[in-house]
Amino acid sequence: MSMELMEKLPQIQEQYFFRLPYAHIIADYVWPGVIMSPKRVIDIRDLEFGPQDVVIASYPKSGTTWISELASALAYNGNTEEVKHVRQDVRVPWLELENDYWWVRVFHWWSRLTGTDLKEKKKEPNQLLAGTRFRLCFTHLPVELLPKSVLEGKCKVLYVSRNPKDNAVSFFHFHRMARFLGLQKNLDWNEFFPLYLSGSLYCGSWFEHVLGYWQFAQNNKNVMFCKYEDMKENLETEISKIANFVEIELSDEQRQRVVKHCTFETMKDNKMANRDAIWLFNQKISKFMRKGQVGDWKNYFTLAQSAAFDEIYAEKMAGSGLDFKFE
Ligand code: A3P
Repeated sequence: MSMELMEKLPQIQEQYFFRLPYAHIIADYVWPGVIMSPKRVIDIRDLEFGPQDVVIASYPKSGTTWISELASALAYNGNTEEVKHVRQDVRVPWLELENDYWWVRVFHWWSRLTGTDLKEKKKEPNQLLAGTRFRLCFTHLPVELLPKSVLEGKCKVLYVSRNPKDNAVSFFHFHRMARFLGLQKNLDWNEFFPLYLSGSLYCGSWFEHVLGYWQFAQNNKNVMFCKYEDMKENLETEISKIANFVEIELSDEQRQRVVKHCTFETMKDNKMANRDAIWLFNQKISKFMRKGQVGDWKNYFTLAQSAAFDEIYAEKMAGSGLDFKFE
């Protein structure tokens, strides 16, 4: 990072926290208060998860929506027609969303009214949906804030990770369009870059998040660690591995259907998965399904930013046994 940016960092951070509406600092992380509360983050610790649950976890913008759609199709036994009847936010609810805020209640009510077909309308978002084999939810919480039952290995955890350069670019655009992050539509990439590196954004440092779950996966057979780049390279192989992990047997035909259902091209036009109907995002500024590529970072990082990043990456990842493909 250049000296000039280093000097500007406190000022940018101040601006970021100021813009983040009603931000909470809980357990040394900054959280958007519009949709999360300290009570919720603390209450989550005691939620009971069991063998019927699969928890999807990720640092934001790592392919959460992608793996959620995939896991959800598997929960429906590979029956992609069934998946299309229910919007993803109902099929795979967000664990840390504060359900007690009235606007979040309205959101759930509206989601069930508009996001599902008749047979699902009366269900609570975290109940086992008709025709599914396991319950799903997703979380961006760092590993140490997961419910105790999850940390004890009582359910399966599917963690998806993505190389941090593409993740940073995707997160940058997300900060421009996510209303709960204060809609920073004029945010400049050069302002965002040091913030990302500082680890002081929503969900903290990419390095700590990913390495925390990597460590968790090493010691627990109930945790599967996936990579966005592997899914891009061979979606079918990754689907087979994930199906195996969640103990769903697929015929070749079912697997092909799931592959087709989960490509970027299909998902970006699928209203049940592309987040178009979610008021938390202003997709006129940037689409949720934006590019879906590996290597887009080259269109944003300057040579100096890339070199600085590589240095930090080498230092933080050293000895972890974990590495990512950047193109
Ligand atoms: P880009 O902004 O780089 O396009 P998350 O769901 O964790 O918020 O991650 C969103 C990122 O995953 C976005 O990245 C989005 O386009 C990408 N994504 C979503 N579905 C995808 C798919 N089927 N194939 C490839 N990328 C996908």
